[in-house]
Amino acid sequence: MSSTDLLIRPNTLSKKKSKTLKKGTYFIQTWGCQMNVEDSEQIALYLEQIGFKPTDNLSEAHLTILNTCSVRKKPEDKAFSMLGELAIRKRRHPDLIIGVCGCMAQIRCNEIRKRAPHVDFVIGTAQINKIGQTVENVLEERSFFSEINLPERKGAIVSDIPERQVERNAKLKSFVPIQYGCDKFCTYCIVPETRGRERSRPTVDIIDEVKKLAEYGTKEITLLGQTVNSYGKNLVEGRVPFSELLWKVAEVDGIERIRYMSPYPRDFKTDLIQTIRDCPKVMEHVHMPIQSGDNDVLKAMKRLYTVESFKDIIQELRETIPNITITTDIIVGFPGETEEQFQNTMNVVRDIEFDGSYMFKYSIREGTKAADMEQVEKSVKEDRLARLIQLQNEITLKRNLPEVGNIDEVLVEGVSAKNDKTYQGYTRGFKMVHFDAGRDLTGELVKVKLENANVWGFKAYLL
Ligand code: SAH
Ligand code: SF4
Ligand code: F3S
Repeated sequence: MSSTDLLIRPNTLSKKKSKTLKKGTYFIQTWGCQMNVEDSEQIALYLEQIGFKPTDNLSEAHLTILNTCSVRKKPEDKAFSMLGELAIRKRRHPDLIIGVCGCMAQIRCNEIRKRAPHVDFVIGTAQINKIGQTVENVLEERSFFSEINLPERKGAIVSDIPERQVERNAKLKSFVPIQYGCDKFCTYCIVPETRGRERSRPTVDIIDEVKKLAEYGTKEITLLGQTVNSYGKNLVEGRVPFSELLWKVAEVDGIERIRYMSPYPRDFKTDLIQTIRDCPKVMEHVHMPIQSGDNDVLKAMKRLYTVESFKDIIQELRETIPNITITTDIIVGFPGETEEQFQNTMNVVRDIEFDGSYMFKYSIREGTKAADMEQVEKSVKEDRLARLIQLQNEITLKRNLPEVGNIDEVLVEGVSAKNDKTYQGYTRGFKMVHFDAGRDLTGELVKVKLENANVWGFKAYLL
């Protein structure tokens, strides 16, 4: 398809109608990681600035945004399937505006146009601050728009980081991106493609944002970055170690809890371990992806650590902070993974005893190195995943059981989906807790006694 083909689409909006649409409603469907969840929040704020109002009802929305993820095939399939359903809806309601944002938008703009010509605009991961103007353009000019430039890093490139909207509704828990992109290029991963080169936000901007969020009522901050603990490179003000940033965030009044996602094992150093121990606001939970328990597979993945060096970090963490919770990500069926290599992963999981894991079947991502390697059969991947999940569930329960009787602190997030007398929240170690309470404790830090251990977390009683 040539680039001129891309500009041809039927005109479906009349100018008169576009005025009514400006005061219409929007619906955002989000897939993917916390970075995307946070981007959707930013998108919402930009749309509200130009007069749109939120709706939970897709079938009544005048503007529908798909904030997409490309990390595995499944979320991409879901996005294309939703675009298919929206094509039917748009035939009935030609005024409907459809936009695609996020990681799939970044790398598949042409494919989206080809497979879904009813899409009105495509905005990549580094341009979401242009969404207001783009929607206005669609309304006024009735043609397709796209914004998919990705900044390259040239030395200190902090000026290329978009401004962020922080005038948001008070939220108990807020995500704060501190680093964009990724330079690691793990051979299975599409993220360096979709998010571009690693860029750190200036510390002052981060602290300003955290202060504003605290004023609006945020108590828990999660700092986001693909390799969050390598934060601080390429800053004009000079290198700021991640552990130093944590201390600075902790100085902000009103912030009670600090989390971060995801640290990269090679950069997990003693200063960070000491900060988790010494800084009361930094939670005793580390989510550190191991990906595989076999050194040859790790090498083929281009992960820059070994099973042994990973275990050394775990040992130092557990010796320094005995109540630390450790969770991880694991991929099974990476190209060429043998049964023996998979067994090495099972053994490392048995050995380390993670409190929990996100476990995935390897998914081919075109354009990455692993896509061209010899693939493992689908049924083998499925079988390995099932065995790993079973093992991890047993370990999770095994690790939760001895915690029964412990007193822990929970940040109350609200009532549970099933029962409006049962409140829920997370412990400092990021374990889910359900407990009954006679009054609304949402937003409060409470002490509970853990009384019933499950794979999902604990039933507890309020002290
Ligand atoms: N930056 C983070 C991970 C981001 S992607 C880190 O490096 O820790 C989240 C997780 O998705 C990864 O940890 C990995 O386990 C999984 N993942 C990434 N690419 C994948 C692929 N092609 N197939 C299956 N899982 C994948
Ligand atoms: Fe992907 Fe690896 Fe970067 Fe994580 S560190 S985002 S897995 S390339
Ligand atoms: Fe998906 Fe992009 Fe996040 S690919 S996991 S939404 S960085």
